[in-house]
Amino acid sequence: MGGIPNSIDEVQALLARQSYVCGRPLATVAFLGLRLGRPLFLEGEAGTGKTEIARALAAGLGRRLIRLQCYEGLDAASAVYEWNFAAQMIAIRAAEAGAGQGAPGRDALRSELFSEEYLVARPLLEAMRPQPGGPPVLLIDEIDRTDAPFEAFLLEALSDFAVTIPELGRIEAPAPPIVVLTSNRTREVHDALKRRCLYHWVDYPDFDRELAILTARAPEASAALSREVVAFVQRLRGEDLFKKPGVAETIDWAKCLLALDVIELSPQVIADTIGALLKYQDDIQRLEGSGAKRLLDELKAGA
Ligand SMILES: Nc1ncnc2c1ncn2[C@@H]1O[C@H](COP(=O)(O)OP(=O)(O)OP(=O)(O)O)[C@@H](O)[C@H]1O
Ligand SMILES: [Mg+2]
Repeated sequence: MGGIPNSIDEVQALLARQSYVCGRPLATVAFLGLRLGRPLFLEGEAGTGKTEIARALAAGLGRRLIRLQCYEGLDAASAVYEWNFAAQMIAIRAAEAGAGQGAPGRDALRSELFSEEYLVARPLLEAMRPQPGGPPVLLIDEIDRTDAPFEAFLLEALSDFAVTIPELGRIEAPAPPIVVLTSNRTREVHDALKRRCLYHWVDYPDFDRELAILTARAPEASAALSREVVAFVQRLRGEDLFKKPGVAETIDWAKCLLALDVIELSPQVIADTIGALLKYQDDIQRLEGSGAKRLLDELKAGA
């Protein structure tokens, strides 16, 4: 447990055991990231497996997965640590009530209140602490949702893998965590941060890979239905849509079809279940006209 794979093939095999289908280019970047101890920066469309690879890596390596979900307004404090204010208040009250009867003095109370006991570790601090099985996988998810100051802070944290808590001092990771950053590219992430990382653009998979993913994730679907589903979604991505379906949607859709005991696609079935694939009314309307039937005809003619 805990060993780093020795080759790109081993990375692919390790991920495959977690039902993660990884193309050679991504496996190469992942291998190099592990080998060189560099963070991975994965950018790409929604639902293409950026978050999932961190999960699969952690599970495959037998490491803990620590996730920092980014959002607008996320600041360094809530990413690293907070003091348990409520518990501190209770301790103060208890000290007040017991004053003079062996309760800690003012200075003792202060150092007690700012000790490990009242510290709430947030993901970045957690990732710096020793973990069973070896350094954890630190997933910094959707970094594009934060702002430039947080990026700058992160850049620093990722360069020395240490954080400083004024009341406690510097906490240093015994070994650097395996870092995976993801972005949906709603804005460009700063060059300085990208430069620290190995970059990979995660695109929609081609037919064969998407079929392999679907087979791994929804093995109960028949081979024929899986092929139809993937072929349809692949064609659908070629349409002029506001939001193209990701791999996650392909899997969802196949599961919906299975739940309805669908054996084969038809315009009616597609219309009934389109909400699993498309999440914008304009896109759905565009397909409702003649779109679905045309795509299906093309697909059957092509098959
Ligand atoms: N290569 C893959 N192998 C196996 N499953 C995959 C793969 N890519 C995507 N999936 C499936 O698609 C789902 C969505 O993937 P994931 O959440 O990683 O997408 P994402 O790229 O992080 O999307 P978002 O940008 O919306 O967060 C996963 O839960 C997984 O089931
Ligand atoms: Mg994600």
